[in-house]
Amino acid sequence: MTTDNSHRVAIVTGAGRGIGRACAIALAKAGFSVCLAARTREQLEQTRNATGLPPERSLIVLLDLAAAEAPAALLEATLDLHGRIDVLVNNAGWAPARTPLPKLREDDLDQILALNLRAPIALARLAAIQMAERGTGTIVNIASNAGRLAPAGEAVYAAAKAGLLAFTKAAFADLRHYGIKVAAIVPGLVDTELIPDNKRLNRSAMLRAADVAAAVMQIVNAPAHACPVEISLEPQADPMKR
Ligand SMILES: NC(=O)c1ccc[n+]([C@@H]2O[C@H](COP(=O)([O-])OP(=O)(O)OC[C@H]3O[C@@H](n4cnc5c(N)ncnc54)[C@H](OP(=O)(O)O)[C@@H]3O)[C@@H](O)[C@H]2O)c1
Repeated sequence: MTTDNSHRVAIVTGAGRGIGRACAIALAKAGFSVCLAARTREQLEQTRNATGLPPERSLIVLLDLAAAEAPAALLEATLDLHGRIDVLVNNAGWAPARTPLPKLREDDLDQILALNLRAPIALARLAAIQMAERGTGTIVNIASNAGRLAPAGEAVYAAAKAGLLAFTKAAFADLRHYGIKVAAIVPGLVDTELIPDNKRLNRSAMLRAADVAAAVMQIVNAPAHACPVEISLEPQADPMKR
């Protein structure tokens, strides 16, 4: 049985490239209208073109999600146009290239925590208020295996992603009674602009952005009585040359 999603609305943060773009394309293909958020208009327009959706079904919202007021502005723009929110994909994320803690700039520390942890939590809270009224909805948080492996040079990013994973599980415990699914995807290395080239890195072995989008759709399409709260996704072959 195929579901008619034509009246349903998904927000994708960080939709301008990489994993977010792949998620927007997958959701549009499944019939959703999408709201595309990031800071770079040109990239969001490229994503809109790739979805094949008309502008009224592919709202572009330009904002810096690290700003405290941004989550509320994104929800407001979505609700003004569509009056509902069915799926939230908290994907936008960033960290500087590996930097030992004493060398990490304070600005970067704040940016990492605001973007990777505060914004997804604030968006989830606001989306859950809308979803709880209708007794349905799906929130997907893109975490990272850095939150588990805690690699050197990524202490704050790892802390933020581990926090996002803990938030996912606790928020599911809060929201399951409202019919809201809350789930995290925990990917290993994905071939996107976030990961700079490196002599030891075999890019062809990395995950593709579309692999993560497929996991998002697995959560979105899960039956009403089941929630895949956490999906770990690793490249089959280790992309790091030994
Ligand atoms: N690539 C990997 O190996 C990997 C592995 C595990 C987890 N992840 C996670 O997957 C998610 C997506 O990563 P990706 O690899 O697709 O990265 P990417 O290619 O760099 O894309 C990141 C997206 O987020 C947006 N973004 C960045 N900072 C923003 C801000 N302050 N406000 C609003 N939007 C912002 C970017 O657009 P603008 O710059 O135009 O704003 C872009 O659209 C992140 O949460 C990342 O931590 C990635």
